[in-house]
Amino acid sequence: MFSLFIFMSILRQLYARYMSFLFPTKTRLLKCDPASITFSPTADTPLIADPTTSDALHSAARLLRHQKTVVFPTETVYGLGAHALDTAAASNIFSTKGRPPDNPLIVHVSSLVMLHTLLPPDYAPSLAYRILIKHFWPGALTLLFPRNPDIVPAIITANQPSVAIRMPSHPVARALIAVANVPLAAPSANTSGRPSPTRAEHVLRDLDGKVELILDGGPSGLGLESTVVDGLWEDGNIRVLRPGGVTVEQMEAVIRKEMHGSDHIPSILVHRRDFRDDAIEETPTTPGMKYRHYSPSVPVTLLCTCSKPPINVTPVSSHAFFSTLNSANPSVPIKVGVMAPEDSDLWSHVPTDQHIQWRPYRLGKKADPSTTARLLFDGLLTLDMEGVDMILIEEIAEEREGLAVMNRVRKAAGDSKWIIYNG
Ligand code: TXA
Ligand code: MG
Repeated sequence: MFSLFIFMSILRQLYARYMSFLFPTKTRLLKCDPASITFSPTADTPLIADPTTSDALHSAARLLRHQKTVVFPTETVYGLGAHALDTAAASNIFSTKGRPPDNPLIVHVSSLVMLHTLLPPDYAPSLAYRILIKHFWPGALTLLFPRNPDIVPAIITANQPSVAIRMPSHPVARALIAVANVPLAAPSANTSGRPSPTRAEHVLRDLDGKVELILDGGPSGLGLESTVVDGLWEDGNIRVLRPGGVTVEQMEAVIRKEMHGSDHIPSILVHRRDFRDDAIEETPTTPGMKYRHYSPSVPVTLLCTCSKPPINVTPVSSHAFFSTLNSANPSVPIKVGVMAPEDSDLWSHVPTDQHIQWRPYRLGKKADPSTTARLLFDGLLTLDMEGVDMILIEEIAEEREGLAVMNRVRKAAGDSKWIIYNG
């Protein structure tokens, strides 16, 4: 049954490609002012003070109700949205992105009332979920819930028994869902396999002619996708399938504080760091496991400068590493993008005597991984657009937002080198 579903999705994608070749879509970009939107704590309907923003949101909502896709800003990354409860609308997401049909989508809601319309009637969220929702919704936290098959179509969850749901905090995203009055399925608004967009310009460059409307609400504040959490296991522990905008440390702090004195305080376990699961490894539900992810069009090399090398790997000196970059043809100039924290030792070891044009992209200070997170995808996409031949990116410590940063960097990099700084 599911293979028939996959076969139909592939046919639909081929048909959509053929149609968009014959009749290219004209992409409109409409500016929205997030500061003009307010939600009162009691009402789920937004107040939109700026008429241009209000018109843009109503045009987008109309398209969404007619099975079209709309790109909208969120606090994490830009999303490619469609009506989540309409199979034909959701299938447009897969064809626009070239997304494999077995990769499930996150459903975005604007209120807790909307959340409850999606859940099975007899389901009650655990105490841990209630705490996480109280502290991090609206925000960059996606939670898995049991799927109500009468409401949520199989295409959304790729036939999984759970559905991933989040309430975004970006005023434009939340207002769009509220005005359309439907939950929105939305993956990151990029061609599958590419870095996620954090600005409307990134989306336009990638999806121009493939979507009708992009709402431009300025750069995404967090710059990395939401944290995906599975708290449905019988042991009550919280499993992080994808680290993201809400950090493990932030979740641990609120769980510890609110469950102080309780007999069973759930542990927060990070996939691949604290647990592995064969079933998860086999499916694409742990984001980025099965498919290529976050890759610009040029090769990315990870420079490891703080972690221990594996036993069979000998670190090389920075001097030796840099001299290999254009060793094949030293007289032909190459352009190399370098991404590292602004206070990294790397900058003083980049040689100036080779035929290499360096394109530096500074990622904030070492002690401030939230800035690195905000700039990571922008850096990869900006350097790619500048036409570099390769990108080098330095490792950062896997703490706080650094955990999510390194999760993305490892998937973007085709290759890792362990470096020791020397003259
Ligand atoms: O911040 C975000 O999460 C952004 C914005 C637009 O909200 N969205 C996003 O979506 O990153 P996407 O599709 O690029 O990544 C969502 C990931 C998928 O890779 C999928 O594997 C996982 O969430 N996911 C979705 N439903 C799931 C489910 N039922 N079980 C396990 N993982 C699921
Ligand atoms: Mg994505």
